[in-house]
Amino acid sequence: MREDALKPAMLNDPKLKVVDVGGGTGFCTLGVVAAGIPPENITLMDQSPHQLAKAKAKPALKGVTILEGDAEDLPFPTDTFDRYVSAGSIEYWPEPQRGIREAYRVVKEGGLACMIGPVHPTHPVSRFFADAWMLFPKEEEYIEWFTKAGFTDVKMTRIGPKWYRGVRRHGLIMGCSVTGIKPKAGDSPLVMGPKAEVSGKANTNPFTFLLRLLLGTAAGFYYFVLPIYMYVKNLVWPKNWEM
Ligand SMILES: C[S@@+](CC[C@H](N)C(=O)[O-])C[C@H]1O[C@@H](n2cnc3c(N)ncnc32)[C@H](O)[C@@H]1O
Ligand SMILES: *[C@@H]1O[C@H](CO)[C@@H](O)[C@H](O)[C@H]1NC(C)=O
Repeated sequence: MREDALKPAMLNDPKLKVVDVGGGTGFCTLGVVAAGIPPENITLMDQSPHQLAKAKAKPALKGVTILEGDAEDLPFPTDTFDRYVSAGSIEYWPEPQRGIREAYRVVKEGGLACMIGPVHPTHPVSRFFADAWMLFPKEEEYIEWFTKAGFTDVKMTRIGPKWYRGVRRHGLIMGCSVTGIKPKAGDSPLVMGPKAEVSGKANTNPFTFLLRLLLGTAAGFYYFVLPIYMYVKNLVWPKNWEM
């Protein structure tokens, strides 16, 4: 499952230098190791020291370079890695385009970036709750971000909800792996201004806040509580149980 999601990343040579951005506790990084990349050729980066502490505790990740940093402002020189992977993180980035531009910058000429993330559900009910809870990119948006950043040969592979559930535990969301190749060494052709300071722009209107809170709770129920309820219900009253 995780291996399927990583297949488009072409981790086919132990000499590849790989970075896992938003790598958290290292679930995806373990997949990079399993694909045959030696830990000493892998860098795991995340903005949360708490998540990284969990990754550092994993024996299978011993030897991996683990460091703190922002996906939208990567602490690496231009043209550093052969592969960039990121799984289940982009949906938290304030400016995904900026992060993908950074992916382009740190990959070497001929290198490949692979972004694994959720996609905006097409079923109207799922879509409604996805919108209420968090913003999920549309498939076309991933393609557009990659293309604008300068990647060529941009491809999208859909992955099943089963794999994605392993990362996010809300079973109704589909995922995708998007890949692109960096055609030419150097910085991205996409020019972006400096990163805007995130000024805790929380919605201060109490009515909107309440509405969002209610919608958020309903969405949480739909994605998290409902699948558990259905699972437990099936244990207690198996499907073929008739009145
Ligand atoms: C759902 S976890 C996924 C972790 C891991 N990739 C996996 O497959 O299990 C999302 C991770 O993205 C990280 N993250 C969110 N925004 C980030 C950013 N701007 N820069 C770096 N990491 C970020 C979080 O700290 C968290 O560890
Ligand atoms: C890591 O990659 C370098 C080249 O980038 C290579 O020489 C080395 O053998 C790799 N490490 C292992 C253990 O394969």
